[in-house]
Amino acid sequence: MKRYINSNPKMQTTVSIVTGSAQGIGKAISLALSKESTNLVLVDIDDKKLESVGRQVKKRKSELLLLNADISKVKDIEKIVKNTIAKFKKIDILVNNAGICSRRSLSEISESEWNKLMEINLKGTFFLSQNVMAFMKKQRSGKIINIASLAGKIGGIAVGADYAASKAGVISLTKSLAKDAGPYGINVNCVCPGVIRTRMTSSLPKKVIEEYKKNIPLGRIGSPEDVANAVLFLASEKADYITGEILDVNGGLLMD
Ligand SMILES: NC(=O)c1ccc[n+]([C@@H]2O[C@H](COP(=O)([O-])OP(=O)(O)OC[C@H]3O[C@@H](n4cnc5c(N)ncnc54)[C@H](O)[C@@H]3O)[C@@H](O)[C@H]2O)c1
Repeated sequence: MKRYINSNPKMQTTVSIVTGSAQGIGKAISLALSKESTNLVLVDIDDKKLESVGRQVKKRKSELLLLNADISKVKDIEKIVKNTIAKFKKIDILVNNAGICSRRSLSEISESEWNKLMEINLKGTFFLSQNVMAFMKKQRSGKIINIASLAGKIGGIAVGADYAASKAGVISLTKSLAKDAGPYGINVNCVCPGVIRTRMTSSLPKKVIEEYKKNIPLGRIGSPEDVANAVLFLASEKADYITGEILDVNGGLLMD
């Protein structure tokens, strides 16, 4: 299985960074990657939950670095890259998963809320990619996977306009990064989840969830593992000729 995830045969073990890995989709991605024997750098602002994920990962023999870092701060981003290279000497996979959601109506979104959301969802994704890519370019290999959202394609309904705009930004960023990184043997792709059962969606009224389900051809809300499986594919050598792709994981809710 190690060979499957490892795109570079010269590399004995893969090193992956996953942001927002303390719970939800990021946790599922981290556990899925650890099953594939990749060494992991888990990044989050929630220490307690991060340590709990770390304990589960350790059982699977992955070497581990837990980092309390806020991806909206460039100083923290530099710390993530510096500490990863100091411990593992390389970075093969970056999963930009950390994000926050807003459910404010359009007229209620304040400047400070707008700024905070953009700083985490869009600025964090950009500057961590920029810093990691500088290293991957010297390596001449690597895979970056961004987590956007269905809302980035269709606009906000159950979520705020600020959230939808930030995720549309992540989709666009994926393509710009992919064009820049391609000549260096680096793939940049994006996963667009639909409605996934995590803390982020737990506040949605039951009625809204039921309404979604009616429109999902596969008839169910997604699991964090559904998203992790798509990430695993894009991180693997099976996806070596795929870049700039926006992969829907939404049970058929949107087919575009
Ligand atoms: N759940 C869904 O239905 C859904 C749908 C589409 C897209 N997504 C996207 O998937 C990603 C994960 O969502 P989730 O549902 O697992 O959310 P979640 O709220 O369960 O988990 C998000 C994690 O990110 C961390 N985080 C937040 N801000 C951070 C920061 N500044 N620096 C570092 N870590 C930070 C949180 O502490 C948390 O552990 C997000 O980007 C989200 O927008 C989720």
